Amino acid sequence: MTKVILKKIYKSFPDLHQKKSPIEDLNPTSSDQPSITHILRSIDLTIEDGEFMVLVGPSGCGKSTLLRLLAGLETLTAGEIWLGDHLINNLPPKKRDIAMVFQNYALYPHLNVYDNLAFGLRRMIKDEILPSENNHIFNRIIQKILTTITRPFPKKLRYLSFQEKRIREKVYKSAQLLQIESLLNRLPKELSGGQKQRVALGRAISRDPQVFLMDEPLSNLDAKLRADTRSQIVQLQKKLNTTTLYVTHDQTEAMTMGDRIAVMDQGQILQIAPPLEIYHNPVNRFVAQFIGSPPMNFLEVIVEGKFLIIDAYFKIEINNEYLEKLNPYQGQSILLGIRPEHFNLNDRENSHFPVIVDVVEALGNETYLSVYLKDNFELKLKVRIPPEFFVKIGDLINLSVQIDKIHLFDLYTEKRIYSHAQN
Ligand SMILES: Nc1ncnc2c1ncn2[C@@H]1O[C@H](COP(=O)(O)OP(=O)(O)OP(=O)(O)O)[C@@H](O)[C@H]1O
Ligand SMILES: [Mg+2]
Repeated sequence: MTKVILKKIYKSFPDLHQKKSPIEDLNPTSSDQPSITHILRSIDLTIEDGEFMVLVGPSGCGKSTLLRLLAGLETLTAGEIWLGDHLINNLPPKKRDIAMVFQNYALYPHLNVYDNLAFGLRRMIKDEILPSENNHIFNRIIQKILTTITRPFPKKLRYLSFQEKRIREKVYKSAQLLQIESLLNRLPKELSGGQKQRVALGRAISRDPQVFLMDEPLSNLDAKLRADTRSQIVQLQKKLNTTTLYVTHDQTEAMTMGDRIAVMDQGQILQIAPPLEIYHNPVNRFVAQFIGSPPMNFLEVIVEGKFLIIDAYFKIEINNEYLEKLNPYQGQSILLGIRPEHFNLNDRENSHFPVIVDVVEALGNETYLSVYLKDNFELKLKVRIPPEFFVKIGDLINLSVQIDKIHLFDLYTEKRIYSHAQN
């Protein structure tokens, strides 16, 4: 069983480029030891057998570092990495049976697609135990001689050793899966970005590893190709059922690809859950803002009895289920979170507040408005409205909030007080 378990992972790098402050220069007792940058802190993550886990977070939060630790390309500062029942902390990369796909493809430019796919396999298969009749010393010598003699011949006439036959089988199988059979004789420079990416995937697949690690493999592709390749990768992963950790900073990829998503920020994992649970029930403001596009709106409001007061004037009456959670916050400010899709357009009497339209983005299937509260230019909101509703810049419209869809966060800790989907 290939379950991946990360326990209390820490990673720090010495900060070699730190600038000394003038005070330190004057202070003879200060040490010259470089300070430490903590990149990953207390990461706990379990990826179940066959699961597609997406690790998502902003640039620089430590996603690639975590992947490189798993692949064995970096050493841990503290913690444990388990692959099934094996602790692999100290295992070299090639013994880990983990294949990694990088953002920049990392293909060998002088090898054609076939040889790029075969490259890693050659070393792997050399170490495989051959069936006994092939392993006989006499057979091995004959195979070696025939391979050497026929090497200068055209490819079709060359003798293929038992190993080469096995390699060919594997290469063709993964080329077929990725529909790149017609490209096997081409050099990487003769391929498009999407084709290169499929070759890079093929190289990982043909190794038939226990775990796939993918580091933003789609970020070099244009939007259309990215969407196509996204669904191909998901289908492929389901077919192969290989435990996968996929890294991205794109929330759409996270929402559409993962069985579960781990949201990361500043070296820590903030929430691990299936996509829709993260969307409906984010643990804090960061997750709420990061997942969902366009992002959630946040308003500072004051709790007064069963009302939330916006901008000292407009009132939103909340459901009873929220009330109990708000007891400690009576008379205080909290953060109200509302997604752009959770507003309604209303007549004046039934609305919560009037707004002025600032920007209109009509996408055809839906329309997004940037609006600000009437009489308060600084209180801006992003609102989704039905495409058939026609508005123009400067219009006044009346909005109400879908009160069963709101999220409440502590103003200072930014942690969730209540989300509509919370039980
Ligand atoms: N070898 C290193 N020495 C010092 N700092 C490093 C090293 N490798 C990475 N870092 C730092 O660790 C942090 C996390 O880097 P990492 O590459 O893991 O981010 P990331 O989440 O993959 O970002 P991106 O989305 O931009 O790829 C960054 O601040 C980076 O500068
Ligand atoms: Mg990265």
